[in-house]
Amino acid sequence: MDNLIRILDLNKAWAAARVAEDPDYFNRLLHIQSPEFLWIGCSDSRVAANVITGTQPGEVFVHRNIANMVVHTDLNLLSVLEYAVNVLHVKHIIVCGHYGCGGVAAAAGHQSLGIINNWLRNIEDVFRFHQDELMAIKQEDKRIDRLVELNVEEQVLNLAKTSIIQRAWKHFQAPTLHGWVYGLNDGIIKPLSQIESADALDPVYRYHNL
Ligand code: CO
Repeated sequence: MDNLIRILDLNKAWAAARVAEDPDYFNRLLHIQSPEFLWIGCSDSRVAANVITGTQPGEVFVHRNIANMVVHTDLNLLSVLEYAVNVLHVKHIIVCGHYGCGGVAAAAGHQSLGIINNWLRNIEDVFRFHQDELMAIKQEDKRIDRLVELNVEEQVLNLAKTSIIQRAWKHFQAPTLHGWVYGLNDGIIKPLSQIESADALDPVYRYHNL
């Protein structure tokens, strides 16, 4: 209970500090929501989108789930994506994974975790696509960190496969999709991949009637 009261107190102090700096702070935020970025990140408490990018409220539209997945049957993700692309007109979508991701490590392991198995199944598919490269890495933590990178790249491709993104590319030539990975040990984000048109996709995934 003490910690719960602590975060409410921290909230009051934060709000008071914002108003002390700028009396119009909340008034301004009330009337604008025009973020340039959609962030799709891991739910891990150490990878807070605004904190690690030093951005302010209003700058980043955020969706987080275990292991920063883009699953084409996930109504939550698809709703966020639809709104970010077609209402907010974000310029960039970032899928940000992180080294030492527990979700990715669990997918690489063989422990049953109940319902989470179904969520992590997609990462097991990524492992299977890159099995030869991954099994050649002898050190387990290094192998999982490489799987973290490959998973980010695969989730960026999953975004590109959606009709939402392909339609936006055709009509607005945006957004650009980015794959990034964050280092828990040094706080640094490393860019891994970037896609800005359906040309990067295998033809089997392309839609022509958008
Ligand atoms: Co994680």
